[in-house]
Amino acid sequence: MKSVTIPMLFLLLTLLAACGGGGDETPQNNAEPMEIYTPKAKANPLGIGPVTEEVTLGEVDPTLVAEGEAVFTQMCTACHKLDKRHVGPALAGVLERRNAAWVMNMILNPEVMVKEDPIAKALFAEYLSPMANQNLTEDQARAVVEYIRQYIPEEKL
Ligand code: HEC
Repeated sequence: MKSVTIPMLFLLLTLLAACGGGGDETPQNNAEPMEIYTPKAKANPLGIGPVTEEVTLGEVDPTLVAEGEAVFTQMCTACHKLDKRHVGPALAGVLERRNAAWVMNMILNPEVMVKEDPIAKALFAEYLSPMANQNLTEDQARAVVEYIRQYIPEEKL
């Protein structure tokens, strides 16, 4: 093997060296644009918080929907309506815009999401009031997701 590999490597290097010639037109002081287009860290599509794995949504579970509705009515309606913007965004269809894990992390860890997740950050910049942490358990947050996802706005019925 070696007898084949080394000459081939040599050939490759020679070719590379040959191609490298004359490539001096590239400006050297291109550090600034490079920095702009290189994000420091790739955002996690699941958001930041206790939910670190994708949440699979199966068939709608009516028990979970009822539980979610109760939690939503008590803990979220001060700021959210399903069909229209209130203190926070309208939540009908939010699961078409975002994945369930992201929504749960937004519910369970809004303080950090609003500071570090790019989407939540942009929402905060738009809505200007912070999403409150309602101290839901992970199960309650999952139930709220179930409630929101089965909700169909009246105009779509
Ligand atoms: C004190 C007001 C307030 C309460 C209470 C609140 N939210 Fe929010 N929520 C907001 C605001 C404002 C935003 C937009 C982001 C921001 O400004 O922090 C938001 C954003 C969200 C988002 C992201 C929406 C999108 O378009 O991506 C979800 C999901 C959400 N809230 C769900 C909930 C749920 C579920 C509850 C109840 C457990 C809740 N919120 C309670 C104010 C609130």
